[in-house]
Amino acid sequence: MSNNDLSSLAGARVLVVGASAGIGRAFSVGAVKAGARVVLAARRAEQLESLREEAGGGEAVAADLTREEDCARLVEAVRDRLGGLDLIVSCIGAAPMRLIADTGDDDWRRLFETNVLSVGRLLRGCLPLLEHDAMVVALSSESVGQPRPGIGAYSTSKAALERMIESWRIEHPRMRFTTVTVGASFPTDFGVDFEAAILDRMLRDWISRGLAQEEMMDPQDVADVLLGVVASALGRPGVCLEHLTLRSPTAVVDASGRPLLPSRKES
Ligand SMILES: NC(=O)c1ccc[n+]([C@@H]2O[C@H](COP(=O)([O-])OP(=O)(O)OC[C@H]3O[C@@H](n4cnc5c(N)ncnc54)[C@H](OP(=O)(O)O)[C@@H]3O)[C@@H](O)[C@H]2O)c1
Repeated sequence: MSNNDLSSLAGARVLVVGASAGIGRAFSVGAVKAGARVVLAARRAEQLESLREEAGGGEAVAADLTREEDCARLVEAVRDRLGGLDLIVSCIGAAPMRLIADTGDDDWRRLFETNVLSVGRLLRGCLPLLEHDAMVVALSSESVGQPRPGIGAYSTSKAALERMIESWRIEHPRMRFTTVTVGASFPTDFGVDFEAAILDRMLRDWISRGLAQEEMMDPQDVADVLLGVVASALGRPGVCLEHLTLRSPTAVVDASGRPLLPSRKES
């Protein structure tokens, strides 16, 4: 994609949270290369540093957004380094692979702290810095619309995130709030801690329910599409991109592992 397609990002003041890995990392590299002034936040400082090197710029702030003091420090850093914000992209996400009956209070707390409260706290902190027509983009999951065993608590937290973002949109009508439904993307750090035995059981179950596609998306492709669409909307403040779905165009697979229908990309 040529830089011209991303021209509205040149000079834009951008905060990416969840920038150290996966889709957030690829999005951040693209945004810096397109000329945006980007603050990059996540917990792992070394990953942020290698991201800065790869992108050739950006300001890294190591922060655990489930911690109030880290969030306040990040907001201060954004104020000092950018002075204001045109775009926030939240790629934060965490999930245990666990049956709902085995999901304890600590799991629920961690999930809501990470996937919901940290984003809400960040938006409250950043509100005075956001331009009146700024964009806020929050990555959600296809599991909200297509619940599946093993990640029920995660999809519950993402459903809460989506409703929270809707509330921000309703209460701040000139600002533009976007939720992004993301389908299975690999490789990323998401799921690296899933226990192999339960993951295997759950994948078989998802296949039997028609919830698994033949191929996962490449996180780089997901980030590139997101970058292009967000850049297009950023330059058009009269349009609010309320929702976007990014999913593999491949067919669902049956229990034998064969696709049930020819892939859209093959047909
Ligand atoms: N990959 C998929 O198949 C898939 C499918 C549907 C939806 N999604 C959603 O898409 C988004 C990106 O997914 P991904 O696969 O690219 O995930 P990923 O590789 O695991 O990246 C998640 C990012 O969130 C950061 N993060 C997690 N907890 C944090 C905290 N407490 N404070 C600050 N940063 C934190 C991680 O960095 P640190 O560990 O360095 O803090 C990392 O940069 C997530 O919202 C995910 O839920 C992904």
